[in-house]
Amino acid sequence: MTQALPSEMTAILCDGYGPPDVLRPERVPVPNPGSGEILVEVVSAGVNRPDVLQRKGSYPPPPGVTEIPGLEIAGRVVARGPGASRFQEGDLVCALVAGGGYAEFCVVPEPQALPLPPGIPLETAGAVPETFFTVWTNVFERGRLAPGETFLVHGGSSGIGVTAIQLAKAFGAKVFTTVGSIEKAEACRRLGADLAILYREQDFVAAVKAATNGRGVDLILDMVGGDYVARNMDAAAVEGRIVQIAWLCGSTVKADFTKLMVKRLIWTGSTLRPRTVQEKGAIARALEEKIWPLFAEGRLTVPVYRTFPLDRAAEAHALMETSTHIGKLVLLTGRSGLRPAMGGAESGSKAGSGSRGRTKQERPGGGEGPPRLDVRAPSDTADGGGHRTDHLYQIYRRSDQGGRGR
Ligand SMILES: NC(=O)c1ccc[n+]([C@@H]2O[C@H](COP(=O)([O-])OP(=O)(O)OC[C@H]3O[C@@H](n4cnc5c(N)ncnc54)[C@H](OP(=O)(O)O)[C@@H]3O)[C@@H](O)[C@H]2O)c1
Repeated sequence: MTQALPSEMTAILCDGYGPPDVLRPERVPVPNPGSGEILVEVVSAGVNRPDVLQRKGSYPPPPGVTEIPGLEIAGRVVARGPGASRFQEGDLVCALVAGGGYAEFCVVPEPQALPLPPGIPLETAGAVPETFFTVWTNVFERGRLAPGETFLVHGGSSGIGVTAIQLAKAFGAKVFTTVGSIEKAEACRRLGADLAILYREQDFVAAVKAATNGRGVDLILDMVGGDYVARNMDAAAVEGRIVQIAWLCGSTVKADFTKLMVKRLIWTGSTLRPRTVQEKGAIARALEEKIWPLFAEGRLTVPVYRTFPLDRAAEAHALMETSTHIGKLVLLTGRSGLRPAMGGAESGSKAGSGSRGRTKQERPGGGEGPPRLDVRAPSDTADGGGHRTDHLYQIYRRSDQGGRGR
């Protein structure tokens, strides 16, 4: 049954460039899917550092892409444009998008959509695509990480970091990471990191050299830049590779590149957003083939640190800028992603992966305090409120849940 769609939706737009509060909920028309596109009713949308850069005016959407921020979503397919043929109305998907994720409905080029990762609920699946696409293409395609190799990922507690640690471990690498606090170090070790280096107190070059008998690491994934450009060359092994995905500490650097030649290093990098639908589709198919089975085996988690209602996206950005989070921040639209029943009310007939009932931000359990690491054992199955607590992922959540009192 095709559902009548609303003509308007709530979306987040930037009222100029600046601090988080330039992000404002607005009523805008629901977009129409074009050729080869699907329209998704969004349940969850991941918040990523590039969204912060976009809000500040330094990472504009590519030409032709909506000004609505948001690079990843999960939800239910509600309409298809001409030529979109894989997914049907009612299918639950997650997807990488070049923009438009902070909204109740989002147009997606169909090749960039995937079925939900097995075992991951809709409220969490919107936090999967951006980091999994990025890590897959940069660590495995560009960086060619191989089993038995050593891998250093900077910013291990970032959305990118928590994904990179898990995937590298799953593919048999030895994983080192840099982190800004003891709590983050513990979280990274729990995700599988062999060594978490407190970069504010320790020299990561010396630490990885000590951990590799002076050899250095085979691959480095760097988002820091600045003085890390030279230090990464020091930390790399002969014939090592360095993949640059961001420049948090600056892209204009003065460095001695002699080691690049002497060690025969390969230094590369990429950005995901401007790549073609075809290229992103190829990454999506690789994820489906090689990574989704790992979700099915329970070997991957999606650490969600905190959720926010869509209309409080500004708070999510403010939190991201404190860099106190561990893992992913997620916006929830309040839409269930369930098929409407005959009478118009929503039923659970099509829901999978724990999408029923209360969402995480509505759970009880208030109180102030530092972020709590809530790691669920495989035997934990339900939170007693009709909302399945998925045992395949870990939730790093603050006890003062962001979405309460909406
Ligand atoms: N090229 C691409 O295609 C692509 C795609 C997606 C994301 N990215 C980039 O990847 C980065 C991570 O994105 P995200 O969404 O995961 O962001 P995020 O969660 O906000 O993470 C930023 C991380 O940077 C770390 N960091 C900052 N300064 C550091 C330093 N000197 N040494 C080590 N770590 C440092 C922070 O760690 P502490 O808090 O512990 O300091 C934090 O973990 C962003 O820069 C983003 O723009 C690139």
